[in-house]
Amino acid sequence: MSATPTIALIGASGHGRRHRQNIAALGDRVRLVALGEVQPMFGEELPVYDDHRLLLAEHKPDYVVICTPPHTHLGIALDAVHAGADLLLEKPPVLDVAAHERLSAALAATGRRCQVGFQALGSPTLPALAALDLGELRHIAVAGAWWRPLSYWTRSPWSGRRAVDGALVNPFAHALMQALAIGGVRPPWTLELERFRSRDIEVEDTAALRLTPAEGPVVTVAVTLASTEFIAGDITVTGTRGTAHVVYPEDRLDGAVLPGRVSLLENLLSGDPLLAPLSRTLPFTTLAEQIMAAPDPVPLAGVAHDDGVALPGIADLVRAAAARHALLSEVGDLPCAS
Ligand SMILES: NC(=O)c1ccc[n+]([C@@H]2O[C@H](COP(=O)([O-])OP(=O)(O)OC[C@H]3O[C@@H](n4cnc5c(N)ncnc54)[C@H](O)[C@@H]3O)[C@@H](O)[C@H]2O)c1
Repeated sequence: MSATPTIALIGASGHGRRHRQNIAALGDRVRLVALGEVQPMFGEELPVYDDHRLLLAEHKPDYVVICTPPHTHLGIALDAVHAGADLLLEKPPVLDVAAHERLSAALAATGRRCQVGFQALGSPTLPALAALDLGELRHIAVAGAWWRPLSYWTRSPWSGRRAVDGALVNPFAHALMQALAIGGVRPPWTLELERFRSRDIEVEDTAALRLTPAEGPVVTVAVTLASTEFIAGDITVTGTRGTAHVVYPEDRLDGAVLPGRVSLLENLLSGDPLLAPLSRTLPFTTLAEQIMAAPDPVPLAGVAHDDGVALPGIADLVRAAAARHALLSEVGDLPCAS
C-alpha cells in the first residue's frame, strides 16, 4: 500500500489560508506536513519554516503549494522542483518569459509537474463553449468592473508596486488567461494598451487593451477596480456563426450556471493531464511582461467613495469598450488628473 502523499504550503498567511482550506477539504487523500511562512504564525500546530529550503530538505513533500508574492515564485518553484515536488503555483506564475523558460526547463529536466493557480481554467464553461458551433472565432471581449478600497493597495508590501502588481496581471489575471485560452491566442501579436490609475499607486487600477494576433481572434479587455457598479467579468466570444457569453467567476455560459468546476489541486493530485499546466500560461506571461514594461499609468481624477476613490460612469465605459472591441479612450472621456 502506498503512503498518503504529503504536501507543504509556502506562503501561508494571505491567500494561502484558502489553500489550507482546500487541502483540508481533501481529507486523507493528502497530508499537510509543514508550512513555509516568513511572518510569525502564533499558535500554529504544524511546523513552520521561514526558510523554504529547510522545509523542503526536512520534509521532502510530494506536493508544494506556492502562495507567496509573485516576485518570489521563480526561486521557490525551482527549489521545490529540484527537491522532487510537483507544484501548485499561484498566478501570476512568473513575471517574464525568461523566468517561464527557466522553470519549464527545470520541469523537463526533473519530470515534475506544475499546475498554475488559474482556477478559471477548471471551469466547465470552457469545454461547453468549445462544444458550441460558433464558427471561426473573430473577437473575444472582456469587461470587468470591481471595487477595491484603498486598503487593498496597502495590504501587502508588493501591493500596487511596479513590475509585480496591477489590475490586469493580478485581480483580472483570470479574465486575461481565460480570454487567451478560449481563443487559443499566442504570440506574435500587436498590443495596444491603456493603463490608468485613480489611486496613489505605481500600477493601473483601470485599463484597456486590444491584442491583435498574427492568427486567431482579436482580444479586447476593459477592466477597472474603481467602480461602484459591479461587472463580474463578462467575456463575449464572437465567431463567424454565433456569439456566446461567459461570466468566468460564476461558471455562467449564456445565462446558465454550469456545474462541475474542477479543483486545480484535485486535478494535480489525480495524475490526470493538468488543466492549467505552466506551458498553457506562456501567452499570459508574454502579455504580462509587456504590460508591466509599459509606460506608467496615467493618473485619473476620481471622487471620494467609502475608503477609496471611484470613477463615476466607468462601468458604462467598460461595457461600451467591450461591446465595440475598443479601448476605453475610444468610447469616452476619462477624467484625467490635471
Ligand atoms: N488564485 C487566486 O484567485 C488568487 C487570489 C489571491 C492571491 N493570489 C496569488 O497568491 C499569491 C499570494 O498573494 P497574497 O494576496 O496571499 O499575498 P500576501 O502578501 O497577502 O501573502 C503572501 C504570504 O507569503 C509570505 N511570504 C513572502 N515571502 C515568503 C517566502 N520567501 N517564504 C515563505 N513565505 C513568504 C508573506 O509573509 C505572506 O504571508 C500571489 O501570487 C497572488 O497573486 C491568487
